[in-house]
Amino acid sequence: MSATDTLSDALADLEAMLAAGRAAFEGSPTPEALEARRVEFLGQKHGRVRAAQERLKALDAAAKRVYGQQFNAAKAELEATFETAKARLQRRTTDTTALDVTLPGIPTRLGHRHPLTQTADELIDLFGRFGFAVARGPEVEDTYHNFDALNIPPTHPARDPLDNFYLAVGGGPTGAAQAGHCMLRSQTSTVQIRVMTAQAPPVRVIAIGRVYRPDTVDATHSFMFHQVEGLMVDRGVTMADLKSVLRLFAQSYLGQDVRIRFRPSFFPFTEPSVEVDMLWHGGVRWVEMGGAGMVDPNVLRAVGYDPEEVTGFAFGLGIERLCMRRHGIDDIRLLYQNDVRFLRQF
Ligand code: DAH
Repeated sequence: MSATDTLSDALADLEAMLAAGRAAFEGSPTPEALEARRVEFLGQKHGRVRAAQERLKALDAAAKRVYGQQFNAAKAELEATFETAKARLQRRTTDTTALDVTLPGIPTRLGHRHPLTQTADELIDLFGRFGFAVARGPEVEDTYHNFDALNIPPTHPARDPLDNFYLAVGGGPTGAAQAGHCMLRSQTSTVQIRVMTAQAPPVRVIAIGRVYRPDTVDATHSFMFHQVEGLMVDRGVTMADLKSVLRLFAQSYLGQDVRIRFRPSFFPFTEPSVEVDMLWHGGVRWVEMGGAGMVDPNVLRAVGYDPEEVTGFAFGLGIERLCMRRHGIDDIRLLYQNDVRFLRQF
């Protein structure tokens, strides 16, 4: 073996060692892995750099000079590569703001509106197309708006403390400051009074909101639920208008095949009064959606309207009912639990 062969062998081995060391340092994923690679290459006694240095001894003077230069450069480069890798790993463990742009992204999960909110928005849209504006009223009401103005006499069983959430504090909008005069509204019909007190006829509004009744919670009852109230007052409004508006609404909301039925009923604030049932998808069971009727002259008088001049119809429907029928939900409690596994389906 000539001296030249030995030199070229040594140089080739040095080159290979340098490449391996570079890859090992740059590819170390953790400080521990890097330390193991440091010992392998830069270890004082048995390191591969140390072994490459030993090759000098076997070379002649001229080859020593050439190899020595290459060796020093290779060693310096490996040490520098090691320091760079060490700094990189330290940054990753101590600097939490460091951004690794190679990591896969975290997809953002988009939320959406609650099914009840979707139903309410749809109602606003549908009745809006029939010319109904949106009105609002407070959830903490006084007994005047919840009962008196709606022609519900002081002795009426609907006022029973066991059927209402009366509040111990007074001071409602009418100034009633006695305990028992304030309550959580039990119906959105209160908004009829507020709207008519505030404006002259004609009136065409819906009101959507929460109502409260101390019912025991089960699959179809809750102590809080939502109603949509409708009110139309003008010259010459008749029961036929009520029936067409409700039928049009039912067909728009539930489909053309829906059937709607009116059963005679009684509400103190309407005369005549009806209960509204709906049947759809060729079903066999009529489902009650709420109450309706022609606004009682006593109610019109209570808000300063002249019942000889104008007439009106009103209706109140349960929003949970509509939403549950539409989506095939069989337990009202699902609507209030806010379990995303349920909500995600709508
Ligand atoms: N307020 C009634 C209830 O909560 C529903 C109702 C019936 C509303 C007849 C009306 C109506 O506007 O005319 O049960």
